[in-house]
Amino acid sequence: MSLERLVIFDTTLRDGEQCPGASLNRKEKLEIARKLAALKVDVIEAGFPAASPGDFDSVREIAHEIRGASIAGLARALEKDIASAAQALEKADSPRIHIFLSTSKVHRDHKLQKNKSEIIKMATDAVQFGKKFCDDIEFSPEDASRTEQDFLFEVIEAVIEAGAKTVNIPDTVGYAVPDEFGELISNIKSNVKNINKAIISVHCHNDLGMAVANSLAAVKAGARQIECTINGIGERAGNAAMEEIVMALKTRRNFFGADTRIDTKQIMPCSKLVSSLTGFFVQRNKAIVGKNAFAHESGVHQDGFLKKKNTYEIMNPKDIGLEESELVLGKHSGRNALSKKIEDLGYKLTESELSQVFKDFKILADEKKDLFEEDILSLVQKQKTLEDDLTTYKVKNIKCSFESGKTPEASVTLTMKDNEKKEATANGDGPVDAVCNAIDIITGLSCKLIDYQVMSKTKGRDAQGEVTLRVISNNREVLGKGVGVNTIEASGFAYINAINKLLFKLKTDKLESDGIAGP
Ligand code: KIV
Ligand code: ZN
Repeated sequence: MSLERLVIFDTTLRDGEQCPGASLNRKEKLEIARKLAALKVDVIEAGFPAASPGDFDSVREIAHEIRGASIAGLARALEKDIASAAQALEKADSPRIHIFLSTSKVHRDHKLQKNKSEIIKMATDAVQFGKKFCDDIEFSPEDASRTEQDFLFEVIEAVIEAGAKTVNIPDTVGYAVPDEFGELISNIKSNVKNINKAIISVHCHNDLGMAVANSLAAVKAGARQIECTINGIGERAGNAAMEEIVMALKTRRNFFGADTRIDTKQIMPCSKLVSSLTGFFVQRNKAIVGKNAFAHESGVHQDGFLKKKNTYEIMNPKDIGLEESELVLGKHSGRNALSKKIEDLGYKLTESELSQVFKDFKILADEKKDLFEEDILSLVQKQKTLEDDLTTYKVKNIKCSFESGKTPEASVTLTMKDNEKKEATANGDGPVDAVCNAIDIITGLSCKLIDYQVMSKTKGRDAQGEVTLRVISNNREVLGKGVGVNTIEASGFAYINAINKLLFKLKTDKLESDGIAGP
């Protein structure tokens, strides 16, 4: 049976990143883009360049470095947005400008206050303007699933005539149901005269939990591009989860008659990276990438599984890159062994990054006997995601004492960029509170901790704890992460990580409002 190749358009760095609390810095976005390229997605939507100078720079950096995938930038149907996307994508091998404009009645009347013919004119003008910069134009009629079908057909025909190569049908508010959405795609195929000149794409949100089902129904009806995100992150309830779509297509290949070029073994590493950098944990029972997705607990299931795997397993966990975390290195391992392991894990470090990771590795190897791949990955990630200009404070030392029934006390020493040391001591309701209070005395900031979680990175009592916390100050919310065998110390690292990000954001906000930064 011949299979149709679907285009996988990943929007983790745009729709995924734009959801509250998921914001990523430039280095983090680049790190995710590298993993998406290793996963072999066809298109990486790297951001919305006109949205902010930071977004513009991220798209430009990704377009400059990443090869093997088209790089897309989002733009409203406005010349300034389109020109900004074109400029950010200048260095891409295969750039795509993704233009969107609302078409549904509720959006036309209340959001845009434009009539149907004004919408058609704006859409076609925008596509024609985009064509001056780039041949690969995608057009999205926002809220397509709630748009009057006759008008939707008219818009699609007009933008294809103007030069759009992909027409994306967004279910912007997650309102569609599979049968109806599949029928909409069939109707587009049979009512839009020039539809064979463009690829039909779909972009589904998960408000009713049907984003993946709607996307797959659309594939059955003839859609040939799917827009999705890693772990299904995205606005509100999220977007269609890439790993679910890809594995459904692979596992039920004959049913769908379609496949992708995704290297599925990269799914798990990519899912872990996105979860770790956004601080959005993957629920235990989430399809494909949840901790329990391949765990067999009940006696009956275990018995069947041991006799023949496919009694209870429809996919091979190795196909998604799920391997037992290997015991890798120890205290006596040298720099070359560490460097080789890091390369095997798919990372390239500069000499100075490697030196820092090696230093951290030796400290960790003193604290914990067995080092697993996850331990090495957390050291690499810490290094890879540090913004050079982001570190105002570093933790030099944390001392904390507590005893049942007594008030904990913490002393913290921080160093500044010029190596100046600052120290403070404080009490708190618990040891973490005491550490944060001592840090607040030094920084002079008053931060509210709104979320705090600790996860074990590996196994055993000496496993490293990864602390993920969220902090609000000056109306800005930031995510902080810290890893360590001692979770109180890791909490201090995470809190300082959040404060450094906060100070960086406040500084760049100021530059933006002064009109100094950006394109
Ligand atoms: O959900 C949506 O409609 C979008 C468009 C910009 C494609 O994200
Ligand atoms: Zn969306």
